[in-house]
Amino acid sequence: MSIRLGDTAPNFKVATTKGDIDFHEWIGDSWAFFFSHPADFTPVCTTEMGRTSQLNKEFDARNVKPIGLSTDTVEEHLKWIEDVNDTQGTDLQFPIIADPDLEVSKLYEMIHPGESETAAVRSVFIIDPNKKIRLTLTYPMSVGRNFDEILRVIDALQLGDAKKVATPADWKKGDDVIIPPSISNEQAKDIFPQGWDEIRPYLRKTKV
Ligand code: BEZ
Repeated sequence: MSIRLGDTAPNFKVATTKGDIDFHEWIGDSWAFFFSHPADFTPVCTTEMGRTSQLNKEFDARNVKPIGLSTDTVEEHLKWIEDVNDTQGTDLQFPIIADPDLEVSKLYEMIHPGESETAAVRSVFIIDPNKKIRLTLTYPMSVGRNFDEILRVIDALQLGDAKKVATPADWKKGDDVIIPPSISNEQAKDIFPQGWDEIRPYLRKTKV
């Protein structure tokens, strides 16, 4: 059974580098950036962990808690974090899940046997405070993720929730947004008193 957008994120209890957690309790009233990587002490993963830690203030500003996972143990994670801090010039504080028995990896379909029977691929789940899955991404083991895109999509999701808008291709914070087709022009007059530019009846752009 695949994990689809809008599903409730499967809950689990697990050991992490910051102690045992119940996933839903740990998310609390925040958003979660839940991401897996293949293995500790590997080069691409080391840069990704470092980048996530360097972006700590950006995640905080968006009320997002990062949490990593690999199929190694807490002890291995803790040793590796020292390397991440040394090589990436950071002070990694977010939890990393230990999943040596693949329980969480299998629950979230992070094991793609065509890639590896034992290591997770690079999965991303953005989960909102209602514990709903809002975004999924899957990257291969050899390609590091784009963390600007992770922040961009979180901004788009949060803006969409707050202002009832959609965002166009390559949208960045501050750009014009789209009035979704589900909102009629009559309704739009109340929601978007600033008005809009009607390029087509189905393509209306506004500022927020
Ligand atoms: C890496 O993090 O560098 C990596 C891990 C597993 C396979 C390929 C690359």
